[in-house]
Amino acid sequence: MSSGNLQDIGIDMKRIFLALIIIGALVGAMLTLLPKRSVDQTPLARLTERYRQKEKPSADHTLFAALQKPFSKPQEVTEACISCHNERHKEVMKSSHWNWERTEYIEGKGIRKVGKGTY
Ligand code: HEC
Repeated sequence: MSSGNLQDIGIDMKRIFLALIIIGALVGAMLTLLPKRSVDQTPLARLTERYRQKEKPSADHTLFAALQKPFSKPQEVTEACISCHNERHKEVMKSSHWNWERTEYIEGKGIRKVGKGTY
């Protein structure tokens, strides 16, 4: 092989060429098998993917006996809810959704109470 005659060089070149083809095929196969890297995704695509899955609620309210009866007024439903959610109603009643009021910083006016009855 080291004689350097033209025929030997031809055989070496064939072997090198064949090896390159095989290596190329292997690398190509590996690249197609690798999962698509997440860095390929745009931030928007990643967010879309994350929020596309709907969150499953941790409790199925259709199975609760407290809710499986006829209610004659809305307040009864609330009572049923707060038999389990025994603090949430207080949170809701403190919220700006319930009170239609909140304290807010308004540019030029400073800290003000805003909401119903405040103009
Ligand atoms: C028998 C008990 C029970 C009753 C009655 C009940 N709930 Fe629940 N509720 C639960 C439990 C347990 C969970 C799950 C709590 C958790 O995962 O932290 C839950 C979760 C919820 C959630 C989701 C809360 C969250 O943070 O994701 C909402 C909203 C909710 N209930 C509303 C209601 C309403 C409105 C009513 C009345 C119509 C009601 N529930 C009646 C037990 C009850």
